[in-house]
Amino acid sequence: MRIDKLLANMGYGSRKEVKSLLKKGSVNRDGVVIKDPKTHVDPNKDVISVFGQKLEYREFVYLMMNKPPGVVSATEDQRDDTVVDLLEPEDILFEPFPVGRLDKDTEGLLLLTNDGKLAHQLLSPKKEVGKTYFAVIQGTVTEDDQKMFEKGVRLDDGYVTKPAKLNILSSGNESEIELTITEGKFHQVKRMFEAVGKRVIYLKRLTMGRLELDKELNTGEYRELTEEELQLLRNPQK
Ligand code: URA
Repeated sequence: MRIDKLLANMGYGSRKEVKSLLKKGSVNRDGVVIKDPKTHVDPNKDVISVFGQKLEYREFVYLMMNKPPGVVSATEDQRDDTVVDLLEPEDILFEPFPVGRLDKDTEGLLLLTNDGKLAHQLLSPKKEVGKTYFAVIQGTVTEDDQKMFEKGVRLDDGYVTKPAKLNILSSGNESEIELTITEGKFHQVKRMFEAVGKRVIYLKRLTMGRLELDKELNTGEYRELTEEELQLLRNPQK
């Protein structure tokens, strides 16, 4: 990778600013000053220092966000703010993207990363990674609904959902539930409740695989995953 790209990615300024940094002799590799911005370096092997400080290079970033309502799970949008707009510039440098989508009005656990391989594994239908949602439902959720969800319900487009676990927390004119699904069809939770004649009025994702939303994160806040959480994501079924 070119040294100017590496330094720009690591937050040392624009390519132009990085060029002037190099020109001043502030950067060295293995003790030797590098001045040419086109110099190729291997950030995993070479010891790069800027102003005498060793550069701690890393390729990937893993962020857990408590997504607020009103923003879309995308990196860019013509009309709406996106989850990436909520990130600090030093995190945006890594070019993270949301792993899967939550609807604009849905809150809760959203993972953002630039690790395409992990994202692919988590989203692959074959892996059947479980996702648990908390929801408030208009209408009385019953044991019949529980049985229907366990068997699979037919959505409006004819698709029959895989078995899903419905936990009724409270039941009345409005009911509170937790639902675990292992797939990610468009508006799946809302459409599953529509299939049994009910409406989701509030939806929040609590878990993805073995990763749980940090209760300390307010909506709109995010933080990096810990090493333990990253391991949980890498082994979602265990
Ligand atoms: N199911 C939905 O209906 N919406 C979401 O945002 C996520 C799952």
